[in-house]
Amino acid sequence: MLLEAKNLSKTFHTRQRSEPVHAVKDVSLHARPGEFVAIVGESGSGKSTVARMLLDLISVTSGTVELDGRPIGSLRRQEYRAYRRSVQAVLQDPAGSLNPRKRVEQAIGEVIRFHKLTSGQSEIRALAIEALQQVGLSPAENFLERFPHELSGGQRQRVLIARTLVLHPRIIVADEAVSALDASVKAGVLRVMADLKDRLGIGYVFITHDLPIVEKVADRVYVMRSGEVVEEGTTEAVFSNPEHPYTQNLLQATPVLPPLT
Ligand SMILES: Nc1ncnc2c1ncn2[C@@H]1O[C@H](COP(=O)(O)OP(=O)(O)OP(=O)(O)O)[C@@H](O)[C@H]1O
Ligand SMILES: [Mg+2]
Repeated sequence: MLLEAKNLSKTFHTRQRSEPVHAVKDVSLHARPGEFVAIVGESGSGKSTVARMLLDLISVTSGTVELDGRPIGSLRRQEYRAYRRSVQAVLQDPAGSLNPRKRVEQAIGEVIRFHKLTSGQSEIRALAIEALQQVGLSPAENFLERFPHELSGGQRQRVLIARTLVLHPRIIVADEAVSALDASVKAGVLRVMADLKDRLGIGYVFITHDLPIVEKVADRVYVMRSGEVVEEGTTEAVFSNPEHPYTQNLLQATPVLPPLT
């Protein structure tokens, strides 16, 4: 499977501002299962807008999002449903992404029901338990009955990942998914993500400000600035020999973290 953005642009017109905002300009990138792709760049550079277009949450102004060479707008209904299952989102702010009134089992169960994977209560429970185990929440039974406020930030983020796993995603688009977490908790969630890549062959489009993390986990990197991709390459190449002055500045501005002990 290959998920591609081809010459994507997005222009926002807002009532408050007479000038249109060219949030994304002619961006091309690709992602596939088993690969950890990072998008980095300063605030406002268009990263989240690209993510929302990859997920078909907002329309494109021009260009296409393609799955295996076919624009998602041209997919038949069944194929489009398969795309919605195989490309999943894990977004920022786990507290806001989970309904505070729903227990973990319900939160996962409603995704299972929505996608009509199964409807039996005991089957739903079994799938939820399996998914919670995959993200290292064990014993999973202890988490089923909890409400979001009874979970730590890292646990909530794991639940969000588990909720996508029941759909057997091939690619997860993670927009600032660990940015709000403390360093050690962040490392734990990242280990889960890397483990899912190794065990299940899941691919990531991982959006972050956090360059030291990118250096640790990403296979390839796209650097965005003012709506454009200004540099791309393997993580090793971009970090050891950044070509664009913007990337050089970005890397210089990043504190080098001491090794995790
Ligand atoms: N719905 C919208 N309406 C109008 N302008 C928008 C909208 N969404 C984003 N923008 C603008 O588009 C530009 C890119 O925003 P985007 O959220 O993609 O940046 P980002 O790289 O994700 O930033 P951050 O790192 O702060 O999350 C910004 O100038 C933003 O103000
Ligand atoms: Mg953003």
